[in-house]
Amino acid sequence: MKPKKEFLESGFLMSRIILKNNGALRGEVTVSGSKNSALPILAATILTRGKNQLWGIPALSDIEIMYTLLESLGAELLHLSDHVLIDTAPIRSHTTPYELVTKMRGSFLLAGPLLAACKKACICLPGGCPIGSRPVDLHLKGFAQLGASITQEHGYITLACEKLTGAKIYLDFPSVGATENLIMAACLADGETLIQNAATEPEIEDLANFLNRQGAKISGAGTDTVHILGVDRLSGCSHTVISDRIEAGTYMAAFAISHGKGRVKNIQLDHIRPMIAKLREMGVEIAEEPSAVLVNARKKLRATNIKTMPFPGFPTDMQAQFGGLLSVAQGTGMIVETVFENRFLHVGELQRMGANIRIDGRTSVVQGVGQLTGAEVQASDLRGGAALVLAGLCAGGVTKISGVEHIERGYENLVGKLQLLGADITLED
Ligand code: EPZ
Repeated sequence: MKPKKEFLESGFLMSRIILKNNGALRGEVTVSGSKNSALPILAATILTRGKNQLWGIPALSDIEIMYTLLESLGAELLHLSDHVLIDTAPIRSHTTPYELVTKMRGSFLLAGPLLAACKKACICLPGGCPIGSRPVDLHLKGFAQLGASITQEHGYITLACEKLTGAKIYLDFPSVGATENLIMAACLADGETLIQNAATEPEIEDLANFLNRQGAKISGAGTDTVHILGVDRLSGCSHTVISDRIEAGTYMAAFAISHGKGRVKNIQLDHIRPMIAKLREMGVEIAEEPSAVLVNARKKLRATNIKTMPFPGFPTDMQAQFGGLLSVAQGTGMIVETVFENRFLHVGELQRMGANIRIDGRTSVVQGVGQLTGAEVQASDLRGGAALVLAGLCAGGVTKISGVEHIERGYENLVGKLQLLGADITLED
């Protein structure tokens, strides 16, 4: 009997990914635009109060939620074949709806632009998520230093100001989201803002390039000290978001775990250095090309050690995927997760596939096994779900992955792209 529509919508019987080990992946895959660059840039269109054209925005559920949030505020969006036209002049509301914010933590990136452009922002607290409590204290501390009043009640944070004034802000942790929110708020503040101990991820630089193209005066983005000279207004522009370094790393890992050979295209080498280095340590041959890497993983993988760090260190968003690789590597590898407090949720599912992993706090010790066995497993977060897909590519037998909605948050057409590389992977309705 076909499950009732409401069950499917509730996520109770969402579709599953069915994977059978079909040997080495072969061919070429093109990486889509970066989810974590597109989200802050979409939020930043609010600063313009005019029209922006954006190319390279990936078709992901998180992006759809951001589109819906912008429309709920009053923005008008026109989706064309390869780009989106966003007009934020009609925005009249400064309150984000609870049912949307709880679906996507990146919604909190609307706080800075709404505060700067509308002098008020009423944002539902994003709450935690599977990988950690995800506080926003650093965002709020920075907004207060820029002169915003902050009140919290009924699960909402309300920010208000007459006019933001530039400040010298030190971030206790190089938070990506806090750096992005404060850069966006400072663009329209009076005077100069300095953000010290800023995050240096490539997505910060992409956001600053977009804002400068609109007339902002930002320097130092991509370093740990960002300087913003406030301006009166920003005007619309056209921009293409950078490619997704985490998607790139995930396909590099897919070639590696399946002992395949292939090209990952549309990448920026400087954004994926940690993944290149670690795969080479594991015995994978990586040839670098101007905007691609050629991965050749004929040999058995060797274990290595991973410690996640803010950029340019090894990205926490690649930790789960490398846990999958280490599960079938020769020897024992150790993973230390320094960024989030609860990012081993996928380990239990890998263990059900035969992985030999021991967790002790933020450290996991992975002893490689000969082969994993296919199983019915559950994805509980985006990157953990990707790790289960990688495990299914090399496991003996069939792997059925539920919780596909988590994976679709961050990987555009994952099933289709893997099928083109020869994977035996389908989406079961
Ligand atoms: C961004 O999240 C990314 N999301 C995450 O990617 C990524 O894992 C993370 O940066 C780290 O690189 C987007 O860009 C949409 P943080 P963000 O603020 O901004 C603590 C994915 O899979 N912290 O750098 O939320 C926080 O608890 C997602 O694509 C505070 O304590 O990350 C965490 O331990 C997952 N107070 C650490 O900093 C704050 O006010 C890093 O968080 C803010 C953060």
